[in-house]
Amino acid sequence: MKLHQTFLLGLSLAGTVQLVSCNSKTSNENQTMKTEQEIERESTDVHSFARPTEAVTKHLDLDIDVNFDQKVISGRATYQIENLAQADQIVFDTRGLEIEKVFLGDSLTETAFRLGSEEKFLGQPLLVDITPSTKSVTIQYRTTPEAAALQWLSPQQTAGKKHPFLFTQSQAILARTWIPIQDSPGIRITYSANVKVPKELMAVMSAENPQQKNSTGEYRFFMRQPIPSYLMALSVGDLVFAPIGEKTGIYAEPATIKEATYEFAEMDQMLTAAEKLYGRYRWDRYDLLVLPPSFPFGGMENPRLTFVTPTVLAKDRSLTSLIAHELAHSWSGNLVTNGTWNDFWLNEGFTVYFERRIMEELYGKDYADMLQVLGYQDLQHTLEDMEKKDDTRLKLDLEGRDPDEGLTEIAYEKGNAFLLNVEKTVGRERFDQFLNKYFQTFAFKSTNTDRFLEFLRTELIKGDEKLAEQINIEGWVYSPGLPEEHVKPSSTRFAQVEEAFKSWQSGTPAASLVTKDWSSHEWLHFIRLLPDELSQQQLAELDKAFGFTRSGNSEVLAAWFLHAIRHNYTTADQAIDTFLTTVGRRKFLVPLYRELLKTPAGKKKALAIYAKARPNYHAVSTGTIDEMVK
Ligand code: BES
Ligand code: ZN
Repeated sequence: MKLHQTFLLGLSLAGTVQLVSCNSKTSNENQTMKTEQEIERESTDVHSFARPTEAVTKHLDLDIDVNFDQKVISGRATYQIENLAQADQIVFDTRGLEIEKVFLGDSLTETAFRLGSEEKFLGQPLLVDITPSTKSVTIQYRTTPEAAALQWLSPQQTAGKKHPFLFTQSQAILARTWIPIQDSPGIRITYSANVKVPKELMAVMSAENPQQKNSTGEYRFFMRQPIPSYLMALSVGDLVFAPIGEKTGIYAEPATIKEATYEFAEMDQMLTAAEKLYGRYRWDRYDLLVLPPSFPFGGMENPRLTFVTPTVLAKDRSLTSLIAHELAHSWSGNLVTNGTWNDFWLNEGFTVYFERRIMEELYGKDYADMLQVLGYQDLQHTLEDMEKKDDTRLKLDLEGRDPDEGLTEIAYEKGNAFLLNVEKTVGRERFDQFLNKYFQTFAFKSTNTDRFLEFLRTELIKGDEKLAEQINIEGWVYSPGLPEEHVKPSSTRFAQVEEAFKSWQSGTPAASLVTKDWSSHEWLHFIRLLPDELSQQQLAELDKAFGFTRSGNSEVLAAWFLHAIRHNYTTADQAIDTFLTTVGRRKFLVPLYRELLKTPAGKKKALAIYAKARPNYHAVSTGTIDEMVK
């Protein structure tokens, strides 16, 4: 199938050549210089052993048992397959799995299998003997306690403190650590699952979910829309459900549900706004699962059930753009999926753009502008800090590396900046029409950078050379850094923050600044404006006036703690310790540990805290921090 699509792409690219053949320096020309092999290479997933053009999975029936005592998931994964090339083998991805037996067909005839040699990051291929007429393959397996996707939490690590908890994190290539699977975002499957858990707990998945605990501990799930493997998700815990709207609701521990329903009360409006922008929501329901604080990400867009960190529970709905982001993935990512991790910007860049459009619909342009400016600041820092300049291109080359390395602000904020540039060039109306068509055309398909750009050329540029030049595909997608002509966002609300800041710098006491009605975004901007040189007195003054160290807003805390560490403001030590030992969100942990590690005294603190905190972190976070403290 992949081959076929590549071939089509090659043909249509050739068509484009003639149109622009007289123009010597367009991005189109650059495209035409790609050989068939290069195009083929770019659509192949270097992070999967699967060979989907030969034999590919279409549907999964998962039948598993979740054992909290042993910290093991065990059972069977039965795949409906398509043998496209009369292949005598089908290849799955595994990492750290124990494969016990493999069977073929409804008769469950045992078949031979072999695990290939282990490769760094990728794990081992599972090669299963099949025949040209094989319709299904059943793999009996068990996970090991080290499975990187899984975090097994003790009761102490939960909000309720009474029951254990489990959650998975499959993106980017961790699904293979808890299910033997063709673990490539270019391959989609539907699934059903039978999941057996301890009777006092409830299971939820990225699928049709129960809304109540049952007495048997056995749960049945269906995902009827085809999804890529990185969206396979499971969580088990003492969960309750609370509805928000008709099609929306929240799962959380009983101790958290009330706060969560207040915080996310607007999810229904978000869904309405999103549908208005880019078309019907295709996944029936949209629910949230609020996880314990060790969840390594802010949010994860598992279809029908976004997983979300409790660090967005700020009590004032100030951090809900994260929900808009994960919801937006229901289009950009889950519906139209990056075909390989080199095309990750197609997921995240589009989602950031879409997220801010949703926020603009709900809260107005002033609000969305603040998000744009904060994102632009993040992008500038990333561009300054990144050592590998090639990784500042949108289209990445992650061969031989962990796809995690592509998880930078480049995909998010440079991706968004590129789309803002296209929007500005063609106007919002035309761009929205284009995006609508894009989501419709590629719905339930995986795509890649080349295919998207081809669509951009045929649907938007349409041979207009001046437009092609303005859009500057080559500069944005294939070149490092940020093209000169990018949109520089500005914010009127932040202009007021800058006024206040200047006034403080020229002597107005912090307590007299006019900060009424500031949201956490304004505070974040204010804290980011603080200079490298700050006296203890100044820090104390700010802290006294604004209560930063005691803030209930995780973004404000994380930004403030950076200054506290940098200036050895010991008043915040205890709060930093508490934050680092309870929160497992990597985005917060990494900058704080990095700052601590800069001085010998800080390093001592960091190591002491990490020794305590490490058991509370998910493998995704320890993987990064282990490297930093080494
Ligand atoms: N899909 C990502 C999280 C992710 C990406 C996990 C790659 C593993 C590999 C999710 O949508 C995301 O972007 N989360 C952000 C929040 C967002 C508001 C920028 C996060 O977790 O910080
Ligand atoms: Zn995202």
